[in-house]
Amino acid sequence: MWYKSFGWQENPFSIKTNTNLIGVNERKKELINYILSGDICFLNGPTGVGKSSMLRLVRKELKRHKVIYIDAAGVDDNFSITKHLQKFTPIWHKIAGKRFPPNSVILLDESQECDEELVKALKLHWDHENIKSIVITQINPNLNGFSESFRARVGNRIVKLNKISKSNAYDLVKYRTKNKNPFDSSAIAAIAEYANYIPRQILETCEVVCAKLYKKKTSEINAFDVEDVLKEFKKKEEPQTNSFSLRKPKEEEETIETNHISIRLSPMEKNIIDSLRGKQKTAQDLADSLKTTEGSVGKQLSKLMKKNIIKITDHERPKKYGMI
Ligand SMILES: Nc1ncnc2c1ncn2[C@@H]1O[C@H](COP(=O)(O)OP(=O)(O)OP(=O)(O)O)[C@@H](O)[C@H]1O
Ligand SMILES: [Mg+2]
Repeated sequence: MWYKSFGWQENPFSIKTNTNLIGVNERKKELINYILSGDICFLNGPTGVGKSSMLRLVRKELKRHKVIYIDAAGVDDNFSITKHLQKFTPIWHKIAGKRFPPNSVILLDESQECDEELVKALKLHWDHENIKSIVITQINPNLNGFSESFRARVGNRIVKLNKISKSNAYDLVKYRTKNKNPFDSSAIAAIAEYANYIPRQILETCEVVCAKLYKKKTSEINAFDVEDVLKEFKKKEEPQTNSFSLRKPKEEEETIETNHISIRLSPMEKNIIDSLRGKQKTAQDLADSLKTTEGSVGKQLSKLMKKNIIKITDHERPKKYGMI
């Protein structure tokens, strides 16, 4: 494996959610303050800036609370927040005649996938103080899928994550590579700029560069090496467009013909369909092969089901999906 030749035991640039976040201490405090005050608040920011990771970090820190993480992209249509909450009610609380756990905090990731019923139920439970605090999390700054009364409860309690600074990008790369950092500072600057200072894109770009250079036994990678790899990568991957595939895909859409109707597809939807042709896969299988998270795949799967392109082929958990 490429990473062994740099002396790492595993891929140091893994993009899985990770609680070692850099440069977000103030944002974390803000979020925790809202939670401790019993508010509903909104964690917002573009893809790859650490929203899901921040939720995990908050969960780790709130030791005296019952913190319940829900990925709205992964819940069933018949998901009941009431039943889910009750699962966490401790026996001693039940004996005292209480139905819900004390001090519960709901961390709702991918909240744009929430259906109306769930939004309504969450609001009711919070109004009745069955839930202490709720954090909703999504990329889109507009809470379109939420009722006006829910939005009024969020108010201006919005915590924004965004691009990181150049010096945080250095710290991120140094932290991940430990004492075996092969990049000089010019290389990190070039990578960060290329990745538009988005942490996930920085990690992905580091991986591409290292995976490309490991055979050359380069002990120190500089900005020229980085430029070379990115140029080469660009030519190979997308000869016809002028963009590098790790950048956020443009909103170019492809189409699929089903029942003689043309349906527009985003690049991610197309990738999912390509991997499902003639096969049945779970969301996790798809996430692994497309190098993304189960949550993001879940979001795309539900869109593709609504468009009648794919279906659940095996309802037993973990569910399997296939083409219609
Ligand atoms: N500030 C940061 N410091 C260090 N690593 C970070 C930071 N922000 C994000 N990362 C890393 O980037 C990767 C992606 O983060 P994460 O999945 O939490 O992003 P996200 O905002 O939830 O993205 P999406 O909107 O696509 O779900 C993770 O490996 C995470 O550890
Ligand atoms: Mg996320």
